[in-house]
Amino acid sequence: MIDQMYRKAVLTVSGQKPVEALVRSRGSNLARRFVAGEDVGSAIAAVRELAGDGILGNLDLLGEFVTSPETANEFAGNVLRLLDAAHAAGQKPYVSVKLSSVGQGMTVQGGEGNGQDLGLTSARRIVGRAREYGGFVCLDMEDHPRVDVTLAQFRTLVGEFGREHVGTVLQSYLYRSEADRDGLDDLRPNLRIVKGAYLEPETVAMPNKADVDAAYRRLVFAHMKAGNYVNVATHDEGIIGDVEHFALAHGIARDAFEFQMLYGIRRDLQRDLAARGYRVRAYIPYGYDWYPYFSRRIAERPANVMFVLRGMLRG
Ligand code: FDA
Repeated sequence: MIDQMYRKAVLTVSGQKPVEALVRSRGSNLARRFVAGEDVGSAIAAVRELAGDGILGNLDLLGEFVTSPETANEFAGNVLRLLDAAHAAGQKPYVSVKLSSVGQGMTVQGGEGNGQDLGLTSARRIVGRAREYGGFVCLDMEDHPRVDVTLAQFRTLVGEFGREHVGTVLQSYLYRSEADRDGLDDLRPNLRIVKGAYLEPETVAMPNKADVDAAYRRLVFAHMKAGNYVNVATHDEGIIGDVEHFALAHGIARDAFEFQMLYGIRRDLQRDLAARGYRVRAYIPYGYDWYPYFSRRIAERPANVMFVLRGMLRG
């Protein structure tokens, strides 16, 4: 409950335009702790640097202000260019995409795909290009009104491109997620399990952290037991330890799952797991629209607010 109140307070304050302007002008260096940079080059360089520690990358072009089909198309074009750039740099592209940023909820007007959802049409281009390069696209999960449509579009994309090239995310704070996982089982899908990062009403999301953590474990264990590939996306050492034990106890091979963490968070733990032979992937955000992503990371942990305030006072 206190976690929720803290998160809400930080997200409310950080959502004020003057606060954003201040942090944007004085805090862009601080954002470098969580964001690789503003351009594709910095994202590709971050993947290369992490590879030195045996850590894989998952690139995320930030962009949460897509409000028209034109900007959605432009954003999708930038994701395609990212895939091309990663491939050209000799990397097997692995990217995450928010369907809202490529037009989910907007309608294609004319031409190919006329009348269809623009998010799905864009995702087809993106997953198709990733498949050409032997790559992978994970459809990030956003706030709860988008879950139904995202899961339906995920199902369509798996059918068209195969589960080796597209995955999605379930959030353990949502009451519905265990049923959603069961409902996807026929696809044997590649799923990333997260706790959930959005401000959600108590009617749809568990307010208590202990319940969210327990649901997280249940989701991961159920997906592993069903023989599906699981992306265990958390920095929670207790959960990570339990997943290690569960895999050992149930004879689940190390290549049947991976640990995922965010760029700049618990790098020590990322290195340690990779050194112990686990597959580890860092989620690497980059792009000009770093502010909302940065705010969510700050809202997750009180110590991060002090980190920002101290950094800004230092100038
Ligand atoms: P929890 O919040 O319990 O934190 C456990 C420990 O991790 C903390 O005690 C601290 O040590 C460390 N930690 C966590 N956050 C930190 C921070 N910001 N700064 C410093 N330390 C921190 N969400 C979503 O809704 N949709 C999505 O698609 C995704 N995708 C995604 C991908 C990947 C790879 C990750 C790791 C996370 C996401 N998330 C997400 C975010 C997720 O829902 C959640 O908000 C964060 O992962 C934080 O929760 P933890 O599981 O780390 O646990």
